[in-house]
Amino acid sequence: MREATQDAVSRVDEDRLWRRHLEMAEIGAIPGNGVNRAAFSSEDIAARKRLIAWARSRGFSVSVDDIGNLFVRRSGLDARAAPVMTGSHMDSQPRGGRFDGIYGVLAGLEALEAIDAAGAKTQRPIELVAWSNEEGGRFAPCTMGSAVFSGARPLAEFLNVRDNEGVVLRDALRTTLAATPDAAPHAFATPVAAYVEAHIEQGPRLETEGKTIGVVTGIQGLRWFDVEVFGESAHAGTTPLNVRRDALCEAIAIINALHALTRDGDDALRFTVGRMLVTPNSPNSVASHVLFSVDLRHPDPATIGRLGDAVEPTVRGAVRQCDVKVTPTLRDDPCMFDSGVADAIEQAAAGLGIASMRMPSGASHDAMYLARVCPTGMIFVPCERGVSHNEAENAKPEDLAAGARVLTATLMELANR
Ligand code: GLV
Ligand code: MN
Ligand code: MN
Repeated sequence: MREATQDAVSRVDEDRLWRRHLEMAEIGAIPGNGVNRAAFSSEDIAARKRLIAWARSRGFSVSVDDIGNLFVRRSGLDARAAPVMTGSHMDSQPRGGRFDGIYGVLAGLEALEAIDAAGAKTQRPIELVAWSNEEGGRFAPCTMGSAVFSGARPLAEFLNVRDNEGVVLRDALRTTLAATPDAAPHAFATPVAAYVEAHIEQGPRLETEGKTIGVVTGIQGLRWFDVEVFGESAHAGTTPLNVRRDALCEAIAIINALHALTRDGDDALRFTVGRMLVTPNSPNSVASHVLFSVDLRHPDPATIGRLGDAVEPTVRGAVRQCDVKVTPTLRDDPCMFDSGVADAIEQAAAGLGIASMRMPSGASHDAMYLARVCPTGMIFVPCERGVSHNEAENAKPEDLAAGARVLTATLMELANR
């Protein structure tokens, strides 16, 4: 490992990194040690302001694009060279933990500060990015910011999405952008030399195998749908069952049919209905309308393709008296990360004497969209018992710091290529 890289790595400050996690966890703190920091909420805005303040105090420049992706740049020797990027997201699940997403942002900032403190020169700029609305828990679908930045989907497609309270994304985004008026404008689809994202594993493998670093090989495929069932509201005490058009009753039949479709002896398939809105949502009215989400994942492209295509026919085959509408909201094919970036991460870990293993990701990440436009990789660190999307999500300060050290060394290597 080059001397400049060793020097930068030695400046990674475990205490500062941990303290910043605790400070960010104050924003949107919920009982049970968790965090609720929905995309484009007042908590999201507070987190953005905090990140900007930390970045500016070090002299890094800050910019923001039209979907609110926030960029923090440390200059390189060649101002015209495409940057090496790192980052993740600051929004959380409604009952999320203190590490999902924010770790990748804070580890990236730590790397930038460590490189800066060492006075290291890199050929390329290094840019930290906090992607907007990665979770999709408030405004579906997920990974919106990186989808728009990478050119995979147009911003216009998302502007009319509503949250559960009826707030339109366009308005929440406008408020968010207005809260950081002095951030310079950043364009979409600017060239990126390489992208490396650090994240907690969100599964138990690293802990079980006693390894500190996961070198991520790729991400399984994902398909999302909104299913709407249209029935008719009626009096619960008087309306005979055989004349009802009960949207909730039929939604349950549909979900059971989807469970049967996705039964998998290998337990590789993931099927989740995690969101349901019932109208009028009253104990003594038959439901007139139900909207529920479908989240389907599998690592094999043919399997996820076949099952995703079977969702709508299965839904239609399960309804009796109601009408249905199936809207696909997300389709991400399985992605394989760049072997050169994986090698760089693996060599960085080995050079630092940190035990690593290669592994796929079951969770989706913004890296999936960056992989379409530049060589991309991810660094996983262990989290306690693999618990995530849960208030109890936990990770060890020393593992977070180890991941930040590997990230620092990897960025130094990629930014000098
Ligand atoms: C991201 O949180 C995902 O749904 O995998
Ligand atoms: Mn995440
Ligand atoms: Mn998440």
